[in-house]
Amino acid sequence: MVQKIITAHHPRLIKDQYEIWYREDPENYLLDIFRQYNPSSLWVLTDDKVAALVYPKIKELLPIHELIILPEGESSKSLQSVEYIASALATGAADRNAVMLMLGGGMICDIGAYAASCWKRGIRYILVPTSLLAQLDASVGGKTAINLSNQKNMLGLFSLPDLVVIDPLFLSTLDEREFKSGFAEALKHGLIADDTYWEIISTTPWKEMEWEYIIYRSLLIKTEIVNKDMEERWIRKTLNFGHTIGHAMESLSLERGFDIRHGEAIAFGMIVESALSVEACGLPIEDFKTIARRISDYKFPILPPEEESKDREKFFAFIKNDKKNEGNAIKFSLLSKIGKCVYDIEIGWDRIWPITRSIWIQAWEESKS
Ligand SMILES: NC(=O)c1ccc[n+]([C@@H]2O[C@H](COP(=O)([O-])OP(=O)(O)OC[C@H]3O[C@@H](n4cnc5c(N)ncnc54)[C@H](O)[C@@H]3O)[C@@H](O)[C@H]2O)c1
Repeated sequence: MVQKIITAHHPRLIKDQYEIWYREDPENYLLDIFRQYNPSSLWVLTDDKVAALVYPKIKELLPIHELIILPEGESSKSLQSVEYIASALATGAADRNAVMLMLGGGMICDIGAYAASCWKRGIRYILVPTSLLAQLDASVGGKTAINLSNQKNMLGLFSLPDLVVIDPLFLSTLDEREFKSGFAEALKHGLIADDTYWEIISTTPWKEMEWEYIIYRSLLIKTEIVNKDMEERWIRKTLNFGHTIGHAMESLSLERGFDIRHGEAIAFGMIVESALSVEACGLPIEDFKTIARRISDYKFPILPPEEESKDREKFFAFIKNDKKNEGNAIKFSLLSKIGKCVYDIEIGWDRIWPITRSIWIQAWEESKS
């Protein structure tokens, strides 16, 4: 039998760059955007909270558009919501020249980008992040995702937006809890890549934080990393510091109906993973103590622990499904020192659980006092 092999060459991504605009003049930039994109139809995706607080500020500035609203919160990052978005697009006969604009936090950016990338194999989309977390982290880097049965980001693809617009004016309605949640990702940027940045922001009194500086510095750190390794084959893995434990904690909280924000779960994850870093990567114990103390000072909410065997079983189920694992090996991105992160560090469950549990119990006790 004659066999023929045809080799097809595709560039990995047809579009390989996009711009991030930092602007505070929506009356001008929105006009610029729609002159430039000239869509056949415009779809604005948002959540009900942002629809009430932020959307009215730009509604009149947008050309004719359709509005799709999801309930706020992480539970909306689901397959059912994708179906809801797709049904709306189908009802409105959105064609391939349509444009979607995501107005919201990381939840809206993640699911909206995913839906737009799948709709008719991909339409153009613009991210207008409105939470601190989305402005300094989630809106850049081209990761799109939805959760599956509370397991974080199980369905997703790498896909670049056409544009990201960071407008700090939108943060005026964001409450302190959301600011702190977003701030956790900024702390992570410092811990993995810039010890000076970590030192500055982790010692600045809360009321004196300079958000413009923080958004800009964090964006630079993240884009510099992603530009080198878009598809997370090497250095991009460092951005996952705190996320193996953090995602498991976030998933378990979602499952138990405990109200936790992404950044709050990551804050817990960073403390545990710093402790793991001491043994596995030589992070000085004094640095671990400093990290744990400074992060704990922000008093992030802690999921109430339940019976140990129950928590262990659940936690393990989420951890072993983590995307970073290979086979049965549980892989972490950890710190060798403050400002330096190493990746693909394998740690056994027998080490992970006792450390996680003891930090969890201690954090829970402290949260009650
Ligand atoms: N794609 C990525 O690279 C990436 C990176 C980090 C996090 N994420 C994802 O981002 C999500 C977390 O993002 P988030 O913290 O923004 O969550 P979110 O989108 O759920 O927003 C948090 C809350 O803030 C509200 N909100 C948003 N903007 C507001 C505003 N201007 N005024 C008042 N309220 C406002 C929302 O309605 C919501 O209640 C998670 O799903 C996480 O997995 C993705």
